[in-house]
Amino acid sequence: MPMSPVSETTHPLKLAERMSRLGTETAFEVLVKARALEAKGKSVIHLEIGEPDFDTPANIVDSAVDALRKGWTHYGPAAGLPQLREAIAEDVSRSRGVPVSPEEVVVVPGGKPVMFFVILALAQAGDEVIYPNPGFPIYESMINFSGAKAVPLRLREEMDFRFDVKELASLITDRTRLIILNSPHNPTGGVLTGQDIQEIAQVIGNRDVMILSDEIYSRLIFDGKHHSIAAVPGFKDRTIILDGFSKTYAMTGWRMGFGVMRTDLVPQVSRLVTNATSCTASFTQVAGVEALRGDQASVEKMRLEFLRRRDMFVKGLNQVKGFSCRVPAGAFYTFPNIEKTGWPSKKLADALLDDAGVAALSGTAFGVSGEGYLRFSIASSYENLEQALERIGNWAEKNL
Ligand SMILES: Cc1ncc(COP(=O)(O)O)c(C=O)c1O
Repeated sequence: MPMSPVSETTHPLKLAERMSRLGTETAFEVLVKARALEAKGKSVIHLEIGEPDFDTPANIVDSAVDALRKGWTHYGPAAGLPQLREAIAEDVSRSRGVPVSPEEVVVVPGGKPVMFFVILALAQAGDEVIYPNPGFPIYESMINFSGAKAVPLRLREEMDFRFDVKELASLITDRTRLIILNSPHNPTGGVLTGQDIQEIAQVIGNRDVMILSDEIYSRLIFDGKHHSIAAVPGFKDRTIILDGFSKTYAMTGWRMGFGVMRTDLVPQVSRLVTNATSCTASFTQVAGVEALRGDQASVEKMRLEFLRRRDMFVKGLNQVKGFSCRVPAGAFYTFPNIEKTGWPSKKLADALLDDAGVAALSGTAFGVSGEGYLRFSIASSYENLEQALERIGNWAEKNL
């Protein structure tokens, strides 16, 4: 008989209380379930995970291999290698239209650690943090973990998944410490307009409130342009821009991202880096310079392919009985409304995986306001997406 991996013990595991406040990301759980079904011989189309299905561009891979051979295999500074901080500062200054210096940049292993470190550094019990709902699940998880109160800001389907700025105004109190913005948005694909950003800035006014602006999909916009609140006069010092290499350059597994923040916050976040990871892997950072300064043709090529898939997939979803899907203006997700199927989101996502072999996420994986929706990632080939539509359509005809 195979040995159980969990050893029997008479000593119960006593976890710290804070662990009960930490959430997770369901995408990885659905992936595990889908893989288990595949191991039993079932065919599954994976539309659950949010990572580009493309390989990292060759010039970036070559640069990392070269860096390894040249000995970039040691610890580096906690805030990142100076040459990468400089390349990021240059890139962000250009793309956001606001001057950024290398001293305002902290490089970390992925975009997620920016959330982790910044929320831990700024929020605590007694504070309130406003965050988009539905939204990336780690926001709510980390706010709860910090001890602060999580205050959801509802995204509105009828506004193409932007939010009503008046609603934001009604949620701001004297206790509001941090406001999280995410544009382009996961899971809905919503993009804040230039006017939205101006109105948000007006509503925040001169308050001593910080903004965590998650701009990890800023290079993946199909309709409109990217606008960062950091560029609004008077807001740069109160904004932390979160961005990284995962989505733009198909580098999810490399683990490299960065935060852009005021210089007096940099040593605080760096101290958290020192305690957690010491630094980001040095050879990946050398390749990061190549990613930012090298040929950008592959970024545009990936964007155009996502656009082609989006148009086909959204059209197809809108033909499925009970589904209605807005056209996402950015990122690589579709977020159809499935209320007319009469099924709750989680049950429908489970049935599509078990019966139709299509892995998607329940909208509720992104918060309570995700009920009534499913998220399908379009980071899968055009052919896979076509086949997924066929499977979903057939399933709906039979079961709805
Ligand atoms: C909105 C958003 N922010 C941040 C991240 C994290 O990116 P990374 O993989 O670089 O940690 C993701 C990843 O899915 C995301 O969707």
